[in-house]
Amino acid sequence: MADTTLMDKLVSLCKRRGFVFQSSEIYGGLGSVWDYGPLGVELKKNVKDRWWYAMVHARDDIEGLDAAILMHPRVWEASGHIAGFTDPLVDCRHCKNRFRADDPRIKGTPGQPDAQCPVCGSRGTLTEPRMFNLMFKTFMGPVEDQAAVVYLRPETAQGIYVNYLNVLQSSRQRIPFGIAQIGKAFRNEITPGNFIFRTREFEQMEMQFFVKPGTDAEWFERWREWRMQWHQSLGLTPAKLQWHQHGPDELAHYARAAFDIQYEFPFGWQEIEGIHNRGDFDLGRHQEFSGKKLEHFDQAANERYLPYIVETSAGADRVALTLLADAYREEQVEGETRVVLGLHPAVAPIKAGVFPLVKKDGMPELATALYHDLKRRFPAFYDDSGAIGRRYRRMDEAGTPFGITVDGETAAQRTVTVRHRDSMQQERVGVDQVAGFVAERIGRD
Ligand code: GAP
Repeated sequence: MADTTLMDKLVSLCKRRGFVFQSSEIYGGLGSVWDYGPLGVELKKNVKDRWWYAMVHARDDIEGLDAAILMHPRVWEASGHIAGFTDPLVDCRHCKNRFRADDPRIKGTPGQPDAQCPVCGSRGTLTEPRMFNLMFKTFMGPVEDQAAVVYLRPETAQGIYVNYLNVLQSSRQRIPFGIAQIGKAFRNEITPGNFIFRTREFEQMEMQFFVKPGTDAEWFERWREWRMQWHQSLGLTPAKLQWHQHGPDELAHYARAAFDIQYEFPFGWQEIEGIHNRGDFDLGRHQEFSGKKLEHFDQAANERYLPYIVETSAGADRVALTLLADAYREEQVEGETRVVLGLHPAVAPIKAGVFPLVKKDGMPELATALYHDLKRRFPAFYDDSGAIGRRYRRMDEAGTPFGITVDGETAAQRTVTVRHRDSMQQERVGVDQVAGFVAERIGRD
């Protein structure tokens, strides 16, 4: 299967089955903004819940936070985003398309007669690069002047830095400790694309770990290992995950060291999470710009210092896309193509489909009762329309790991068949055991 075809099929399945829709579709859509449908919202929620569990609930040294999207504009001066969060932009005067100046498809130097537009092929029509800030601007209050400008945050991290003392003082934590946050971020990307991979509105799952200077390299290595393990725990194909170390030319202005976790998408190896050793850049800048002391006093050692920060920053949408791309497969079964989303049961939107084999002999009543029982514990779906094979196929496409069928033996023997999505094998399980059987396999028991 050609790689572009795989992405097309994935986008089409996501729309058909209610994972992801284009934003404002009935108005023609809004560029690179997407909405999550009933199955997509469950998938992304499962990703975020798993991250929150691993970061906050399973550990004693990380606290949660939910900071506002709008922040004081000085935050973005201190962070360097007003001065430096820019991309070089070029326009084609002929076809009116817009590119990043470093777009590898551009031949020649933008602004020069030899430069060729990668879309319409015209020569000499690309403008000189001009710097373009990726932050979305809006106004606070009724007057739309410079003094009222506020920004939609381009990352969630800054909300953590400006709250670090609040959290430290209110939580009884001690350094080393971390603050985790999940929330929306916005970037006016020049070249968004590849479905939900690069969008203008997205969700980040960021954790900032505050450590004593000198211990940062050690913590950085620990966090690299833990984060890779987390991605592996989602059931991704191990050979499709790799590290990419940032060279000196790639390092962000705040980073002393940086590694990306990359996944091999149908469109190539791309970053899904960044792990950065940010040193004392962030707290140092906020201390300078706010005039407030952000140092930590270590009573035991009787010393005062500005903590260093190790950051782990992942995109919830990107992880969701990674799961979908990794899970999609087509198989030939009895002369028909079976489309399966082989999602890990823990992230699958629906955990079990419940089906009466036929709509008579008391089977619908038994199946409905079982469905209500399961739904109290995890998302389940009831389906009594069409041939049983079709119902299984619909659940295969939705990534549902278990299909539970009430049949002629159920009433007398108090058993149902459980069909496994991946192997399509079936086994008989007691009606009273089936909720526990599924719960155990999705990590709830
Ligand atoms: N605080 C550091 C930071 O924001 P980043 O590498 O710019 O670092 C971190 O972003 C993660 O956020 C990326 O690895 C990616 O998963 C996600 N991300 C960034 N820009 C995105 C976009 N335009 N669309 C979707 N996800 C994005």
